[in-house]
Amino acid sequence: MSSAADPSPLSLVIFGASGDLTGHKLIPALFQLFAKHRLPANTRIVGVARSPYSDDQFRDRLAPLAEKSAGKEWNRDGWNTFAQHVFYVSADAAKPGGLAPLQKWLADKEGNGKAHRLYYMAVGPDLYPGIATQLGENGMAGEEHGWRRLVVEKPFGRDLATAKELNRLLHRYFDEDQIYRIDHYLGKETVQNLLVFRFANTIFEPVWNHQFIDHVQITVGETVPVGSRGPYYDRAGVLRDMIQSHLLQVMTLVTMEAPSRFDARALRNEKLKVLESVPVLRVEDAATNVVGGQYEGYLKENGVAADSRTPTWAAVRLHIDNWRWRGVPIYLRSGKGLAKRYTEVIVQFHCPPHMMFPLPADTLLQCNQLGLCIQPDEGIHLNFQTKVPDTEGVVLRPADLQFHYRDAYADVVIPDAYERLLQDAIHGDASLFMRSDGIERAWEIMDPYIAALERPEAPQLQSYPVGSQGPKSADEFIARDGRKWLIRCH
Ligand code: BG6
Repeated sequence: MSSAADPSPLSLVIFGASGDLTGHKLIPALFQLFAKHRLPANTRIVGVARSPYSDDQFRDRLAPLAEKSAGKEWNRDGWNTFAQHVFYVSADAAKPGGLAPLQKWLADKEGNGKAHRLYYMAVGPDLYPGIATQLGENGMAGEEHGWRRLVVEKPFGRDLATAKELNRLLHRYFDEDQIYRIDHYLGKETVQNLLVFRFANTIFEPVWNHQFIDHVQITVGETVPVGSRGPYYDRAGVLRDMIQSHLLQVMTLVTMEAPSRFDARALRNEKLKVLESVPVLRVEDAATNVVGGQYEGYLKENGVAADSRTPTWAAVRLHIDNWRWRGVPIYLRSGKGLAKRYTEVIVQFHCPPHMMFPLPADTLLQCNQLGLCIQPDEGIHLNFQTKVPDTEGVVLRPADLQFHYRDAYADVVIPDAYERLLQDAIHGDASLFMRSDGIERAWEIMDPYIAALERPEAPQLQSYPVGSQGPKSADEFIARDGRKWLIRCH
């Protein structure tokens, strides 16, 4: 659906209007979409929260945040025009009767004609059930007068049972195709490029399997500590916060089969298939496939229990039991408080079956590697051997073939993931959102790993200094398989 094809007005309702996500991500993304003429002409954005702002106070609060996010691209006049489309309604949306002020506002603005609505839950997860219930009970989910879509942020549950419960509740009022579950990693250009790289080229796919690939590493390293998010983070930990969601999603794109069409159903069916091929381990088996760590000083963060055993770093090893991936370990690791911010996928290929040239020690590291660099230096690195010229005898040295977005698309500012996701939700394209079965399967896979670290008999988490590479035990974990952690993107 395009704005030209359907001139009906759009009300974009953001619950949690005074929160960080709205100010730092959603409004800046909507402003960019507006500046690029990608919002339907008749769009009204209405922020909903309990604080008593006027429209102007709300706009004034947002302006500096949008300015900061736009950086050099900031355009004050453009913002002023955009801000005229931004409104505020004070309401306690999760409380029975609490939506009345919003209903009145919508009735005034939309009139009796057809109008579409996108409801965005930019609130804490404890409010999702209440808000969804109020929307449903007040007849605001029905599509008689235009489509109604609900965007649900992460975290979606904290284990399989709670994710199922939340899905059940949402389905009481909304059909599955009205629900857009966000994982913002899927909105990143380089994550989408994984599909293009694999399925719009022919040369990689024939070697994309156990015959040629030794193992795959997916890493999301963050320099930031938990900051002001202690109370949330201490209940979540890195396995829930990052690995169950972002890293598993990236893994599905790296390992799934080619869908027959680029649409939500075909794509999400293939993603689900690969998740279904990951065996769900018993907790005692998961325990030997996971290692956790905690950065020094975490216990002193605001909102963190003094004796917390929440991991801020973890690595897991898993397998995909299908023809393509049989026997190829996939390592997922992520942590906060590290030396470097980087997200990358490394595909380590096997060494040649017979080498007639001398290779230095650490042979596997000398064999082909492909680095898919998700952020911050977006690009692709392909590593291969070369002959060093003019030496006595044959001397080999690995070289890197590099593709960088900053060179290839020098005149394009890579958009924030939320731009793409908001645009897709408005257009009704759910390809980059998670379906209920996919999210439940991701929890089912991850629950035993989480339980393994939370068991009373689990070994103490190893601590690591802020600004390091993570705990030492991480190196031992992968060394037991005869491998090393790799970094290719720099
Ligand atoms: C969020 C996590 O989903 O992703 C945060 O809750 C994390 O803890 C963030 O910092 C990382 O996102 P990005 O886009 O900065 O890599």
